[in-house]
Amino acid sequence: MQWNKVYFETLESTNKTAKAYDIGTVIRAGRQTGGRGRYGNKWVSPAGNLYMSAVVKAYADLTPLMAFVTAVAVAEAFESFDVRLKWPNDVLMNGNKLAGILLERTEDRLIIGIGVNVASHPADNLPYRAADLNGAVSVETAQDMILAKLAENMTLFETQGFAPIRDKWKKYAVGIGSKIAVHLPHEQLTGIFKDFSLSGALLLQLPDNSIKEITAGAVFFI
Ligand code: BTN
Repeated sequence: MQWNKVYFETLESTNKTAKAYDIGTVIRAGRQTGGRGRYGNKWVSPAGNLYMSAVVKAYADLTPLMAFVTAVAVAEAFESFDVRLKWPNDVLMNGNKLAGILLERTEDRLIIGIGVNVASHPADNLPYRAADLNGAVSVETAQDMILAKLAENMTLFETQGFAPIRDKWKKYAVGIGSKIAVHLPHEQLTGIFKDFSLSGALLLQLPDNSIKEITAGAVFFI
C-alpha cells in the first residue's frame, strides 16, 4: 500500500476528516479539538502526540479483525519499547496505555484511527493509566514506522488470512492464562482468559468451566 499523507495543524478529529478522502490517504493532525475514543470516550489530543487516520477499503464482515491487524502493526512499530497488547486493541507500555485504535466505517471505506502518546499522556479523569514515549521518537517517525507495519500486516492478512495475525497478536498479548473481569454493557463476568479465537473473540473460562466467547467488552486484570 502506497500511502498519501495529508497534514493539518488542527482538526476536530482525523477520523471525521478522513471519511471524505480516497483509499490510501492518511490524515494526520498536529492536535485535535474533538478527538474520539472508543465507547464514546474523548481522546485528549494536545500538540506533540500522533493523531492519524488511514483510509483503507472496507473488508466487509472482516472489519473487526482489522483492529487486531492494526494493533499488531503498532506493537511491531514500537517493538523496541517493549510494548504489549491488551484485548482487543489497547497498546500498553509498562502496563499503561500508550496508544489507542478506533475503527470507523463508511459504506465502502474503513477509517483506521490511531493515537499514540509520543510526547505526553493525559493524567486525569481516565478509567486507566496512560504512558508516553517521552519524545524518544518524532511524531513523523512514529507515523512512518506504523504505516510501514500496517501495510505489511494488511498484505499478510489479505494473502494468508487471520491466523498469522492472531499468532503475532498472541506474542504481544498480556493476560492470557490470567484471571480477568470483563465489563459488558449489561453484565460483568470474571474468569480465566483462556485464548484468543480465530474470529478475534476472547475466550473466557467461567467458574463453571464453560467457555464464553466475548466479542466486545473492556478487560480488567484481577
Ligand atoms: C481508544 O479509545 O482507545 C481509541 C482512541 C483513538 C484515538 C485516535 S487519535 C486519531 C483518530 N482520531 C480520533 O478522533 N480518534 C482516533
